[in-house]
Amino acid sequence: MAELGSRQLFPHLKVASYLSHAGVSPLSAPVLEAVQAHLLDFAGEGVGAVPEVLAMRLRLRQKLAQLLACNPQDLALTGGTSWGVLAVAQNFSWRRGDRIACVQGEFPTNVTPWQAAAAQHGLELIFLREDLADLEEQLRHGLRLVALSAVAFQTGLRQPWEQVVELSHRYECQVFVDAIQAVGVVPFVVGELDYVAGGAHKWLMGAEGCGYLYVRPDRQADLHRHWAGWLSHQQAVDFLFQGPGHLRYDRPLRADPQGLEIGSSANLCQAALEASLNLLLELGVNRIFAHVSDVLDQLEPALGFLGWPSLRRPEAASGMLSFRPPVGTDLSAWERALHQRGVQISTPDGYIRLAPHWPNSLEEVPLVVEAFREVQRSFE
Ligand SMILES: Cc1ncc(COP(=O)(O)O)c(C=O)c1O
Repeated sequence: MAELGSRQLFPHLKVASYLSHAGVSPLSAPVLEAVQAHLLDFAGEGVGAVPEVLAMRLRLRQKLAQLLACNPQDLALTGGTSWGVLAVAQNFSWRRGDRIACVQGEFPTNVTPWQAAAAQHGLELIFLREDLADLEEQLRHGLRLVALSAVAFQTGLRQPWEQVVELSHRYECQVFVDAIQAVGVVPFVVGELDYVAGGAHKWLMGAEGCGYLYVRPDRQADLHRHWAGWLSHQQAVDFLFQGPGHLRYDRPLRADPQGLEIGSSANLCQAALEASLNLLLELGVNRIFAHVSDVLDQLEPALGFLGWPSLRRPEAASGMLSFRPPVGTDLSAWERALHQRGVQISTPDGYIRLAPHWPNSLEEVPLVVEAFREVQRSFE
């Protein structure tokens, strides 16, 4: 049974306070057990393990759909966030001269595939500042697609994706959201969004190597199938199970996102993700967000002595608390020194980022504060 603020399901976790869930999450005992059970199935049965894999993938799709508030058939199981971005960037029905907008400061996952598509198809890629007025100005000049993150990876600021989609659709511009830094900790539903991609290893607390892509039903037919593999066809596996005469290469390609799944996939990572989703769904994201917010509400003022501005804003709160230390601060040295004192943080792009999740307890706060105090003193 998962319990907010309890590490009981993380018996292998070494540091006293793990605050790097926005980087890579530690794996819980149920995740390890699920992966081991899968490995044993393959060890014992080889191909005999496949039916359970197919059943697991079905359950995983349903659980992801429950989390994202969408239909399971509108999801593709992917190899991670980049896979999802690339699937849309490579299959979008681009017209030469189309304009795409990315956001300045974005994690490169949500930039590089758009740059590649721009080079391939003669598109113009522009960078937005983080404000809606700038977006509207660009929409007036014509945008085909805007790509943003639900939560910015370094500042931890929740982005106003609902307003972005509302505004963009008024100008017939589609919206792609990289949701890896939100889903699992910040309440998130796909709503009107056109495309949503994410990966397993951060706030979903699964292992690296798998993720999801949501495609809004009325956008699915518009996506080309430049990416097509043997599982992209309708009735793709009939030739394996239905006897002779079913091996054909002319079956139509599936129009739904599952048609983008192309071939066999990382089922061990998918089994891990299913097990971690069981815990997240049991706890509920609203309760997790409230719990994580309580931890951050205590940490933020208690770390005020550092004298570093906090980036956290109530209207843009996420699972992260980020500070911007003065230029010249040796962030790697801070990270190492905190780690020696049992606190794992991360330091993306000049920020110090604290990212607790549901197993973190309020009782860790004094320990974290003391570690920061000691490290600050040691560097004076
Ligand atoms: C906003 C954001 N998107 C994507 C990723 C990772 O993408 P992928 O799942 O393709 O490795 C990260 C961090 O690693 C991130 O912070």
